[in-house]
Amino acid sequence: DAVESLLPRPPVVTIMGHVDHGKTSLLDALRGTDVVAGEAGGITQHIGAYQVTQKDKSKITFLDTPGHEAFTEMRQRGANVTDIVILVVAADDGLMPQTIEAISHTKAAGVPMIVAINKIDKHDANAQKVRERLLEHDIQVEEMGGETQDVEVSALKKLGLDDLIEKIQLQAELLELRANPDRSAEGTVIEAKLDKGRGPVATVLVSRGTLRVGDIFVCGAESGKVRALIDDKGRQVKEAGPSVPVEVLGLSGVPMAGDPLQVVETEARAREVAAYRASV
Ligand code: GTP
Ligand code: NA
Ligand code: MG
Repeated sequence: DAVESLLPRPPVVTIMGHVDHGKTSLLDALRGTDVVAGEAGGITQHIGAYQVTQKDKSKITFLDTPGHEAFTEMRQRGANVTDIVILVVAADDGLMPQTIEAISHTKAAGVPMIVAINKIDKHDANAQKVRERLLEHDIQVEEMGGETQDVEVSALKKLGLDDLIEKIQLQAELLELRANPDRSAEGTVIEAKLDKGRGPVATVLVSRGTLRVGDIFVCGAESGKVRALIDDKGRQVKEAGPSVPVEVLGLSGVPMAGDPLQVVETEARAREVAAYRASV
């Protein structure tokens, strides 16, 4: 076999933490958007996937996860498809049950963590106490003699954001993330639903190769042919390369979150694999 040509790819960064500690607000601040305002009760109930272009033109893919206790599985999934976890801890509230849960998902996934101590604008913020409590969970930040990066931020006042981005980029460099864009695409379903107008829709994070309109694929126990690809800004695109999240239309049915997507040669082959998977 010829050696694959591996090219640098953007890091995939999952944001985790306790409910209302400011994950979506932080991502909004990094993206210059306002997702929180559109959420029912200000509660995130799905995994949002976005790619953000930095001042130096480099890209970072972010996955936002819900902090509500009901969504353990989504947090687990988020930790498993990511390169880096950002653990958001509100400096006034401190370590809470889903903070601790997120720490254990991150450890189980073997992924490096950056701690973002948020809401430092609040009068009762206590970043030092957060660092001390993290020690109880074997997370030692640099200031405490350890190696975990931490950064004080305020999503509300937009403080510490450049510092956070720098730390993500530094961590990403250490990981030397690479993928071959010139092969048939593979990816993972982040979430999937049946859309009234568009039929089955899956948000897929491409891990390697390039997914294109017209590609034939297997996706869990479903198959299909890419009818359209829609990026995180709602625009139709013709292709999506490594680390890019896209909505895929053209599925035979709704796959399950976490299912792999693989491009294959023929529709007969796609149906055969999907039917086999549906039978086991
Ligand atoms: P879930 O997705 O439901 O787990 O919540 P979340 O972690 O995404 O938190 P969200 O961004 O919805 O923010 C929760 C509340 O905290 C909102 O009222 C935000 O305005 C507020 N908030 C977020 N960041 C900050 C901050 O830096 N400072 C202050 N003072 N408030 C903040
Ligand atoms: Na919230
Ligand atoms: Mg949220």
